[in-house]
Amino acid sequence: MYKKETTSGANKPTIRVGLIGHQFMGLAHSNAFRNASIWYDMPCTIEMAAVCAKDSEENLQAFADKFGWQSIETDYNKLCARDDIDLISVATPGFLHKPMVLAAVQHGKHVLCEKPLANTLDDAVEMARAAEKKGIRHCCGYSYRSTPSQALAKQLVDEGKIGRIFHVHARYAQDWIVDPDFAMVWRFDKKLAGSGSLGDICAHSIDAARFITGMEFKEIVGHLKTMVPERPLNAENPEKKGTVTVDDVAQFLCIFDNGATGCFEATRLATGRKNNNCIEINGDKGSLYWDFEDQNYLYFYDRTAPTQQQGFARINATDTVHPYSGGPWPVGHGIGYADCFVIEVVNFLTAITEGKAYHPDFHDGVAVQKVLDAVEQSATKKKWITL
Ligand SMILES: NC(=O)c1ccc[n+]([C@@H]2O[C@H](COP(=O)([O-])OP(=O)(O)OC[C@H]3O[C@@H](n4cnc5c(N)ncnc54)[C@H](O)[C@@H]3O)[C@@H](O)[C@H]2O)c1
Repeated sequence: MYKKETTSGANKPTIRVGLIGHQFMGLAHSNAFRNASIWYDMPCTIEMAAVCAKDSEENLQAFADKFGWQSIETDYNKLCARDDIDLISVATPGFLHKPMVLAAVQHGKHVLCEKPLANTLDDAVEMARAAEKKGIRHCCGYSYRSTPSQALAKQLVDEGKIGRIFHVHARYAQDWIVDPDFAMVWRFDKKLAGSGSLGDICAHSIDAARFITGMEFKEIVGHLKTMVPERPLNAENPEKKGTVTVDDVAQFLCIFDNGATGCFEATRLATGRKNNNCIEINGDKGSLYWDFEDQNYLYFYDRTAPTQQQGFARINATDTVHPYSGGPWPVGHGIGYADCFVIEVVNFLTAITEGKAYHPDFHDGVAVQKVLDAVEQSATKKKWITL
């Protein structure tokens, strides 16, 4: 599957895709659907049938032309009802995930939905149930799983190289809203985003912990804090302020189902940190450290090695023996941010075509949502929550 060369599309089934969203994730998904079968040998071909977004037809057409989407729609219900589409990709703010996913599911489309799956646990559960009932295939966009180095971390845990896990320590730190004059966007409104740094970025760390270790969260005590409670309604008119209704900082301690402990922090106010998405796992045989800003590498400490050789090895995870063949380039040439979305699309569409299991799916999305919900409950009630 991860052959670097591609084979002819003859006799392969075609998956016809409709995308909703054309900004940050809309770009990432467009690039992924366009390039997946160019860079990887897939069992299906991909047709970029239509893109839908909240924009003028002129702007949307320009976006479609740029990426090769064959048509445009401005109403997502029409997009979901189209007979010439097999899969809907949802790349819109959280409050739109549920209505869009339910519309797609109602019409029997497979769905790739961005993370977090929904704005509330109840919504996420409803979406997963609807998808299962209809029998469609589903993917929740925890895209960092598709980084070869993070997948290698999981492989080493599965092979027993870390042994009994004692601790998980995760920090996802960015600094894009340090300026108090950074104006309001949907990410600062609880009704639209569900939560702040918690659902936006901590959700990725929660998914990474589940993915790499296979452990489930059992008990949680959390703390959420809004450090900049008001922001300009828009950049042109900075004196008019809006209220920030989500957390700027999310922190929690946890106990996993096997007794291991965890410490998680997510903030968008960590001056100097751009996309510092890190996780460290400590076991009795070894440790792992992964940092997305250094995404071609995984740090591995082997405690079973002779003492004089012990130390964190910096493994370049770009070899053909690494997950996803380390990416499309020769060893050591590395991959970038866009590549994990390409790998996500390759894996999901391959699983659909071959009828194989796929993760992260909506059930993984619900599992993360349970943790987000517990952190919010704990922060409000100021007590430990059992999941
Ligand atoms: N996987 C990741 O690493 C990652 C990274 C960033 C964002 N995300 C997630 O992706 C989702 C989208 O985030 P974003 O940063 O791309 O948002 P964005 O603000 O950049 O883009 C939102 C898009 O939604 C479209 N939209 C809004 N209302 C619509 C409607 N009624 N009908 C059709 N389209 C509509 C807009 O036109 C726009 O294209 C969020 O759930 C976010 O959490 C995931």
